[in-house]
Amino acid sequence: MTEEIVKSALSKVMYPGFTKDIVTFGFVNSIAIDGTNVSFTVEITSSSADVANQIKTEATAALTAAGATSVTCNIKAPQMPKESSSQGRNIAPQVKNFLMVSSGKGGVGKSTTSLNLAVALAQKGLKVGLLDADIYGPNIPRMMGVADVKPEVNGNKVLPIKAYGIEMMSMGSLMEEGQALIWRGAMIMKAIEQFLRDIVWSELDILVIDMPPGTGDAQLSLAQAVPVTAGLTVTTPQSVSLDDSRRSLNMFQKLHIPIAGIVENMSGFIAPDTGVEYDIFGKGTSEPMAKEFDTQIIAQIPIEPGVRTGGDEGKPITFASPSSESAKRFIAAAESVWATIEKINAEGGVDNAGVQPTTPPGVSACSTGASAQPQPQQSSGESCGTGCGCH
Ligand SMILES: Nc1ncnc2c1ncn2[C@@H]1O[C@H](COP(=O)(O)OP(=O)(O)OP(=O)(O)O)[C@@H](O)[C@H]1O
Ligand SMILES: [Mg+2]
Repeated sequence: MTEEIVKSALSKVMYPGFTKDIVTFGFVNSIAIDGTNVSFTVEITSSSADVANQIKTEATAALTAAGATSVTCNIKAPQMPKESSSQGRNIAPQVKNFLMVSSGKGGVGKSTTSLNLAVALAQKGLKVGLLDADIYGPNIPRMMGVADVKPEVNGNKVLPIKAYGIEMMSMGSLMEEGQALIWRGAMIMKAIEQFLRDIVWSELDILVIDMPPGTGDAQLSLAQAVPVTAGLTVTTPQSVSLDDSRRSLNMFQKLHIPIAGIVENMSGFIAPDTGVEYDIFGKGTSEPMAKEFDTQIIAQIPIEPGVRTGGDEGKPITFASPSSESAKRFIAAAESVWATIEKINAEGGVDNAGVQPTTPPGVSACSTGASAQPQPQQSSGESCGTGCGCH
């Protein structure tokens, strides 16, 4: 027996309920062969015993037909998600850490930063997911080169799309290209919850979440649904952007989210012909703001054409050109974020009990005036910010 024969046999085993096989999904690992004795692990995303049994039976039959005399199939299934109460509310308990990437303004490089950080964290050997929670303007699928890939759907569960060593889901992958979304606050809250509950994320070390710009319903919903381990703000160096970033950092404080730092993007320009770095928008201007919020600038990413082309062509610079200046700085930022997250966890982790809605289900927080809890500032005016969903 060879690994090729084993993989070829196992590629005949479909993942129950889906049209793809367990090898294509990347679920098979730790193959060990000793003569005609074969053992391997199938890491599945379902906690159903039926799924595990069906895979075991079919895999054993396929390998026996291929000449194996003894087959050991270890199934590694995720723990049944339970909402844990110790951390407040957590509707995605198989995910160990959540990183909220925010900005006050649009177009400052949130998606670029989220994706490159996610890739850099995966390159460190962590299990990483990337949730594009920008429901109105989902750009991540294009930036990962998977704009045409439709995810596997099984009932109301959806498997994340895999590329560059990370799992990803986006509204852009679930709807037709170019379709416009006009959603109210309550629908955004539901969508965020579904992204966490109905996407079959693996047991992830970290889920990086690319938020829509501003401080609104999506941010509050996320903070109420899972204990967000840390928040990161992306800003450009101009004062007008910094004003908005201050609001974003203020929101983290109100939502009891520890701040992992500030990414100053478009901080200088590296000329592609000479490699000389020029200051365009001002550099280091976010330093006073970092001090004000007792945090630090974890990266100054220059304007570099490769960052933009990487985004447009679906080849993140951290993966495609890791020795470029921007990639090096994204990689350093990922190290810093992970160090902060480990420190936060070592000190007892986070708790979102303090940001839960104070009214019972079905009762409007607006009508009871129960809005004394921490609230982000509203940019859209669509909701009272209490999670009541009544606007
Ligand atoms: N450092 C950089 N150098 C060159 N181009 C960049 C850099 N950062 C971002 N860009 C480009 O700027 C554009 C906007 O970036 P991006 O989409 O990441 O911003 P965003 O904050 O997510 O925007 P939105 O608020 O619309 O979601 C993209 O085309 C991206 O490739
Ligand atoms: Mg974006």
